[in-house]
Amino acid sequence: MDFQDRRIWITGASSGIGEALALAFHRAGAKLILSARREDELKRVQSACGGEPGTLILPMDVTDAEELPKKTQLALNLFGGIDILVLNAGITQRSRTRETDESVYRRLMEVNFFGPEAMARAVLPSMLAQKSGHMVVISSVAGKFGVPMRSGYSATKFALHGFFEALRAEEERNGIHVTMVCPGYIRTDISLSALRGDGRKHAKMDSELAHGMPADECARQILKGIAGKKKEIVAAAGREKALVYLKRFFPTVLARMLGRPV
Ligand SMILES: NC(=O)c1ccc[n+]([C@@H]2O[C@H](COP(=O)([O-])OP(=O)(O)OC[C@H]3O[C@@H](n4cnc5c(N)ncnc54)[C@H](OP(=O)(O)O)[C@@H]3O)[C@@H](O)[C@H]2O)c1
Repeated sequence: MDFQDRRIWITGASSGIGEALALAFHRAGAKLILSARREDELKRVQSACGGEPGTLILPMDVTDAEELPKKTQLALNLFGGIDILVLNAGITQRSRTRETDESVYRRLMEVNFFGPEAMARAVLPSMLAQKSGHMVVISSVAGKFGVPMRSGYSATKFALHGFFEALRAEEERNGIHVTMVCPGYIRTDISLSALRGDGRKHAKMDSELAHGMPADECARQILKGIAGKKKEIVAAAGREKALVYLKRFFPTVLARMLGRPV
């Protein structure tokens, strides 16, 4: 796969899938801008990706709406434009709906929906001006069906599908591609920062994740899909992939399966 000199801005690049994507894009020749909040972790990933001048870091919090215009302008200036925007930063949840504070739902929406929505709208004018651009949105299989203990998380990912499908319908004819990515369980630290019902961190590695697909394999599948300008990529092991197809063709069967006690 050739991403030679493609200018790629990745959020959530300090760990997990974002880090694996950064390494894979670097190996494929891309120029990278890496964003997340933890600057020390971004520097670690930056040096693994060859350091400057090909890989630059831009620390930011995707929920900081006030800073966003400045950060976007900085990102656009670094390599003179963005070809691919990878909206990957996200957090998850581990709590039943009846035990979850409203503040947890709002936080999930801020990070997982309003962050990507605002960044996409901030970068869009420059992509339209250059008559090309590719937005890659890291959703989840939980954006295809509601997953127990993740009512807020699933809602944020469903919202991404609605927003970005509409954006695609509006702008595809103007050279803007949108790829929705739905990973299954991927071996990352995401469950450590997952929010519990009271807003505290779950702070545990879940066994499904510990036994999930390696992040570099997930990244490999994502790059292949981006190169092929796929509209949707399901980067998941057989069982989770089967659930996505069950939802499409046999939704009642899936509802029965998901309704079993957890
Ligand atoms: N792992 C899975 O099984 C799985 C499955 C489906 C979908 N996904 C999705 O994949 C994406 C990446 O998750 P991951 O599994 O790689 O987990 P991860 O290792 O915890 O990575 C999450 C990334 O998001 C960044 N982030 C979180 N809040 C942020 C904020 N407010 N501003 C900026 N950056 C922020 C984190 O960096 P800082 O803490 O440094 O800010 C980190 O780089 C998420 O959107 C997740 O929903 C993961």
